[in-house]
Amino acid sequence: MNEQLARAWDDAAAGYEKFWVPRFRPWVEAAVAAVDELPPGPVLVPCCGTFPELELLLERFPDREIVGIDLSPGMVELAHERIDGRDQAQAIVGDAAVLDAKWRGACAAVVSVFGLQQLPEPAQAISSWYDALRPGGRLSVVFWPSTVEQDGPFALMRDLLSPGPADPEPANPEPDLAGVLGDALDRDEPAVFGISYADAATFFDAYSRSGPMRATAIARGDAFVDEIRRRFLERAPEGEWTHHPAARLITATGR
Ligand SMILES: C[S@@+](CC[C@H](N)C(=O)[O-])C[C@H]1O[C@@H](n2cnc3c(N)ncnc32)[C@H](O)[C@@H]1O
Repeated sequence: MNEQLARAWDDAAAGYEKFWVPRFRPWVEAAVAAVDELPPGPVLVPCCGTFPELELLLERFPDREIVGIDLSPGMVELAHERIDGRDQAQAIVGDAAVLDAKWRGACAAVVSVFGLQQLPEPAQAISSWYDALRPGGRLSVVFWPSTVEQDGPFALMRDLLSPGPADPEPANPEPDLAGVLGDALDRDEPAVFGISYADAATFFDAYSRSGPMRATAIARGDAFVDEIRRRFLERAPEGEWTHHPAARLITATGR
């Protein structure tokens, strides 16, 4: 499962950096802006992808050690390009679903954007990320909840790809964050920004080649992708398309 996902993100990495990173920037800014005063220690970035969090974190915390972790070697290669020899930053290939014990109680902050919803057990991941904090350390996580919009391209894709009788795999369960973080939870709110595409085909091709549909596209093959594309374009509006999907931002403070 992890291997397939890693391969899909390897495949998607260059296109993700070019197409999605600029469009997702407001959410990365929101996650970083939610982190303020920090105790000493490194800042950990689980599911860093190509590491768009890096520059924004360095602006806020110029002297910190900043460590990205991602499952996909292809993503980490691009993260290394972004790091460009800066000694205080590193990106490592690894599974961020449960952090290595060496991070426990060691981090000033854990910041993660659009990784949590991909993990098989998000509540367990949140708990592991929280446990990595020092007292006073800050957790800031942005992720896609199970419903992000009523209409728009994400909703249409969800509709077209949602499990049917022939494909009964359920979506990842939404984490019980209140239960996991309890009183440590400071914020739990929607993070809504606009994204525009030249047209529906541009969206679909980026979503299936360099976005979250890549793993399904590889697993199901070209004929499946072509059929979903046909149905997508049949139902999509003509011309430029803008939507305002609602991600979820949560923050917590280490005890
Ligand atoms: C949508 S990208 C987000 C990347 C980056 N944080 C951003 O905001 O652009 C999701 C990333 O999560 C990574 N990922 C998925 N499962 C993972 C896991 N178990 N451990 C570490 N990374 C994982 C993928 O490889 C991918 O690079």
